[in-house]
Amino acid sequence: MTTVSEKLLIRAEESGASGPSQDPSPPLLSLRDVRIGDRTDGRDIVHGVSFDLTPGKVVGIVGESGSGKTLTCRAALGILPARFEVTGGSIGIDGTDITALTPPQWTALRGATISAVFQDPASYLNPSLRIGKQIAEVLRVKKGLGRREARERVLGLLHAVYLRDPELVHDQYPFELSGGMLQRVLIAAAIAADPRILIADEATTALDVTVQAEILDLLADLRERAGLALVVVSHDLAVVARSCDEVLVMRQGEVVEQGPTHAVLDSPRHDYTRLLISEHEQYGLEKFLTPKEEA
Ligand SMILES: Nc1ncnc2c1ncn2[C@@H]1O[C@H](COP(=O)(O)OP(=O)(O)O)[C@@H](O)[C@H]1O
Ligand SMILES: [Mg+2]
Repeated sequence: MTTVSEKLLIRAEESGASGPSQDPSPPLLSLRDVRIGDRTDGRDIVHGVSFDLTPGKVVGIVGESGSGKTLTCRAALGILPARFEVTGGSIGIDGTDITALTPPQWTALRGATISAVFQDPASYLNPSLRIGKQIAEVLRVKKGLGRREARERVLGLLHAVYLRDPELVHDQYPFELSGGMLQRVLIAAAIAADPRILIADEATTALDVTVQAEILDLLADLRERAGLALVVVSHDLAVVARSCDEVLVMRQGEVVEQGPTHAVLDSPRHDYTRLLISEHEQYGLEKFLTPKEEA
């Protein structure tokens, strides 16, 4: 089987006419009425989130700060803070119910099947190690690659995330790169082990608008070229509108509205969704809507 990073390199110049499979693929990630509770007081913080993520699909989660977006992502990644627990529902990754996985089973799954990029890339990198070495580490651990092989692959990944001079970046330290470059590096590291699902949680929030757009285009491109399934999380409706097939609108731990992105934006049914849209009208939300080809 061709790996994601191979596909990225091989298919970069292909037309991609056939796109993702037309078959109704089984979901790679499936959340069914997921509830997350706070152990300290037994209260539920997230009150039932459900969605299916199939290959090549992008699901967006939008909502104000504190609405439970990150906890939902962390539950799907098996990295909930100790204070929280999944109190109901199920989370399936590639057909396996993950709510009962042991730590070693998680270690095998994370990176290799499901991976994530968060806000503030600098905090995920070791400031005293060169970029190339940090990504190579992922390849050595997750893929068992040797030094030379890892180096080639790292350069390929840096190229795949459109860093202009992969050889230079390979030998640089994090402080030498801009925020946008660091986020590309983090994405390269996140896709290094060929995951099929990538969760981008506020991955563009710390970046200025132009760089945000570039990173979102990069994610869209990874979906296109590598068939990655994406979960894009943001408090900013414009970010989700730009990149998602389906959107969940969350407020105070509840999903208040959910559906195809264009349907939700064109005819929102919930007042809170209308509020989010009106907040964006001053910027002109339509500018962020990339026209999608009809299927
Ligand atoms: N590590 C934590 N310790 C205590 N409370 C937390 C922690 N993480 C999240 N919370 C609380 O859980 C709720 C949901 O948080 P979160 O999922 O991070 O929201 P979002 O990502 O939508 O901003 C918030 O009320 C937040 O204060
Ligand atoms: Mg968050």
